[in-house]
Amino acid sequence: MDGTTHPTTAPVLILLGPPGAGKGTQARMLEEQFGLVQLSTGDLLRAAVAAGTEAGKSAKAVMDAGELVSDDIVIAILRDRLADDDCARGVILDGFPRTTVQAEALDTLLAETGQKINAAISLDVDDAAMVTRISGRFTCAGCGEGYHDTFKAPATAGVCDKCQATEFKRRADDNAETVAARLEAYHAQTSPLIAFYQAQGALARVNAMGAINDIATELGAIVKTATA
Ligand code: AP5
Repeated sequence: MDGTTHPTTAPVLILLGPPGAGKGTQARMLEEQFGLVQLSTGDLLRAAVAAGTEAGKSAKAVMDAGELVSDDIVIAILRDRLADDDCARGVILDGFPRTTVQAEALDTLLAETGQKINAAISLDVDDAAMVTRISGRFTCAGCGEGYHDTFKAPATAGVCDKCQATEFKRRADDNAETVAARLEAYHAQTSPLIAFYQAQGALARVNAMGAINDIATELGAIVKTATA
């Protein structure tokens, strides 16, 4: 991190959607396709928890309960990460913003560098399917590639397709009780952002109940148009 903001016209894309909608899965595919940087506030917060920072210590119990971490903490973490040099390539925000306060802070942050949001894409899904998606999720401990017991298993069982690591992990908050709280937080605090971005003329919506690759194709077309 160089601590400065970047005057840039680099693209800024937002993926909105409840837990399990496929934000992380699709963000990683878009990252590869368009050379953008995936910024997941969930990942940044989990890294802060693992590192034992003050922000991480405050966030841990809130995340374990499936509630939203305070706007101040999340905005500060995102602001720091956006100042990293690699973000000058353009970013896909995965899990941020999640409240109107965060969305307004993002607009202010981007205005400092002359940037704007190219598109906020809502991944529309049925709540009922999300528990199945989340309870089957696991990731590679080596490279972070995401998998699912049923929907996206590694080609060779127990071996990561990407980096060939053989260790995998599951998230502490991926249990039925916490998922219910996370869905509730999404509907109460995050779903109003659909209207927020519609009013800005930046909203796109995708039916995210289909196959991963079909959704990726649709998203890719939206991103191509939004960043042209
Ligand atoms: P975060 O890490 O952002 O979690 P989340 O929003 O709950 O989203 P998930 O990561 O669970 O789901 P996803 O949409 O990325 O789905 P995925 O692609 O993995 O946040 C965790 C916590 O951190 C929050 O609860 C909060 O406490 C805190 N936090 C984070 N950001 C914050 C913020 N801005 N403000 C305040 N607090 C914040 O897919 C799920 C599974 O389904 C995978 O196994 C995948 O392989 C599979 N899958 C994906 N797509 C499909 C498909 N089309 N068909 C079948 N399976 C699929």
